[in-house]
Amino acid sequence: MKRLVLATTVIVLVLSGNLAKAVITGSQHDFHSASWANGQICLPCHAPHNNVNATGSLLWNHAASAASYTFYNSPSMKATAPTVMSDISKTCMGCHDGTVAVDSFGGVTGSTLVSTTNRLGTVLGNDHPISITYSLAVTGLKGMYDPAVAPSGLPGGTTIAADLLYAGKVECNSCHDVHNSFGIPRMLKKSNASSALCLTCHNI
Ligand code: HEC
Ligand code: HEC
Ligand code: HEC
Ligand code: HEC
Repeated sequence: MKRLVLATTVIVLVLSGNLAKAVITGSQHDFHSASWANGQICLPCHAPHNNVNATGSLLWNHAASAASYTFYNSPSMKATAPTVMSDISKTCMGCHDGTVAVDSFGGVTGSTLVSTTNRLGTVLGNDHPISITYSLAVTGLKGMYDPAVAPSGLPGGTTIAADLLYAGKVECNSCHDVHNSFGIPRMLKKSNASSALCLTCHNI
């Protein structure tokens, strides 16, 4: 009986742990223990004052990448491939294209590059399209859900358009949550088990 009570307690603890909102603390975006982070988590990306404001919003404090990119394109894609990247995806590429150091923030130039595992480079032809407009008018219904009405499936969420698109476009943040709010591996917004993330938008 004692053993059963103990086992139940452990299960309850594990379950309640999973139910707690996941956070950036302890994630791969928590740099507070790095020698260059001034003991803080938010600072490499946001600063309350005198931020470098590279994107004109978000109190952005990280150096921007000056790279130009080649984007995914294909004959079967209905959306138009972009010529420039949206600002919201540029926030990621300030570290993830591998041209700007992770510790380049607050006007200081650093030297620690993102690992090669997590580096996308500047040639994005082998990556899922980003900065593309996703609407019924663009893609039609064949093979794609209508983002204005189809559910995102996020906890407490509504439609794909409201929860996953940025100014009507697919961006890095459509699939990833930079603050690890959902606690899903690779900081995804949704688990991709059985390709659930992909099947949110693709009706295949
Ligand atoms: C690795 C970079 C990074 C770190 C570290 C980071 N953020 Fe963010 N933050 C972003 C990006 C990118 C966005 C825009 C995300 C979006 O809209 O999906 C954002 C958006 C926000 C917003 C706007 C609302 C929202 O959720 O979109 C707030 C508020 C915010 N961050 C607060 C914080 C705080 C507080 C911390 C530290 C505990 C922090 N962030 C750490 C990159 C970061
Ligand atoms: C301040 C620099 C910085 C910014 C800005 C940043 N990242 Fe990261 N990211 C990192 C580093 C550093 C790592 C992990 C360590 C490494 O690879 O060197 C990482 C890891 C990741 C991982 C892997 C997580 C895992 O669990 O394996 C993903 C996914 C990711 N970032 C996505 C994003 C997205 C999407 C954005 C923009 C919304 C973004 N990052 C913005 C620096 C950054
Ligand atoms: C359509 C959804 C989607 C978009 C858009 C997207 N990602 Fe990902 N990303 C994923 C998935 C799913 C994984 C996990 C792959 C795996 O674990 O095999 C991933 C993995 C990663 C990783 C971990 C390293 C790796 O290659 O597995 C990084 C870093 C990353 N993404 C950054 C980005 C950045 C930066 C952008 C924007 C330029 C972006 N992602 C756009 C879905 C997406
Ligand atoms: C937020 C919505 C969304 C998610 C999530 C998403 N996609 Fe997409 N994907 C799109 C849109 C929009 C296009 C462009 C479709 C078009 O215009 O024909 C696209 C394009 C593609 C294409 C290229 C099609 C072509 O004709 O060249 C492939 C392949 C693809 N996605 C696979 C995936 C996979 C695999 C995943 C999961 C890792 C995924 N997508 C997740 C919205 C999404």
